[in-house]
Amino acid sequence: KANMSNQRVPIEPQRVDAPLTQSATFLVVTATKKPDSINTIRSTLAGLDSLAKNVSIRDLSAQFACTVGIGSDIWDDLTSLPRPAELHSFREVKGEKHIAVSTPGDLLFHIRSERRDICFEFERQLMNQLGDAVSVVDETVGFRYFDVRDLLGFVDGTANPVGPSVPASVLVAGEDTSAEGGSYIVVQKYTHDLPGWGHLSTEQQEKIIGRTKIDNVELDDAESGQRSHKTLNTIEDENGEEHDILRDNMPFGSPGSAEFGTYFIGYTRRLWVIEKMLERMFVGDPPGLHDRILDFSKPLTGTTFFAPSASFLANLDSE
Ligand code: HEM
Repeated sequence: KANMSNQRVPIEPQRVDAPLTQSATFLVVTATKKPDSINTIRSTLAGLDSLAKNVSIRDLSAQFACTVGIGSDIWDDLTSLPRPAELHSFREVKGEKHIAVSTPGDLLFHIRSERRDICFEFERQLMNQLGDAVSVVDETVGFRYFDVRDLLGFVDGTANPVGPSVPASVLVAGEDTSAEGGSYIVVQKYTHDLPGWGHLSTEQQEKIIGRTKIDNVELDDAESGQRSHKTLNTIEDENGEEHDILRDNMPFGSPGSAEFGTYFIGYTRRLWVIEKMLERMFVGDPPGLHDRILDFSKPLTGTTFFAPSASFLANLDSE
């Protein structure tokens, strides 16, 4: 017992490793200028775990999970704690033809469940607590499309890390002790030109993605010239080590208004890895040869967050 005080308090991450579900809500908000806004947000985030319990108990098989990400602009006011080393606002990436736009957002709530009603109910209770402390920038409801396909028709999420490589690629560790157990998040809301995409042959589409459409089998990397989406998003550091990210993309849309989209969400231990992916997609490798997926996909948003550990969140209110 005597040396208990020397032991480190265990750091519990948020549920960043929760599985892909049938339904997900992506809620991005900014803080309003009301005098109490920051306090209200702080106490809501500190109580997020009990808010989650209110709904998750109502169907334990529904795999409820909510992770919250905090944006760079609000970090200091909200936490008064050291900034995660890499945290900054989303930096626009300008290619010759396509631009990854940067859009505002102080908080991201990534809400997941097998049941749409559970996502809905959690968001309802959350918004009740936040009240006029926030204004909504974007709310996107994603759904499972057949065997985890995006609306371009391809299986999406295959190359994600599994098992012990999830925390290794997603959670900050000893390299930044005050951010330990946390994860950087980048989101982009894309809409697709589905008629244009439909004019391509299946073979052309497969070359763009880098996998076959029906069987989801990986194609070889191009030796030169135009690279596939898969190849452009394979990132190695200077030592030749490959760095994965965790993607929980969801389709969204409304055929009645001809809206067809993919909500991209990437979790990473190293923000630079996702930034490098965006540069390779939008500027191209070599520059000029951008990711052809972008000729049929346009990002409407682009925002970066940091999802601190659950322990960090729970202690937010304790000063
Ligand atoms: C792979 C779709 C945007 C990063 C894939 C695959 C598909 C896909 C179908 C192949 C299967 C798989 O491994 O999941 C899309 C769509 C997007 C999109 C529809 C939006 C229009 C992005 C963005 C990034 C990204 C913005 C990063 C900034 C990756 C990575 C892989 C991948 C890392 C795995 C590469 C590998 O095989 O190692 N994506 N993606 N994707 N995508 Fe995307």
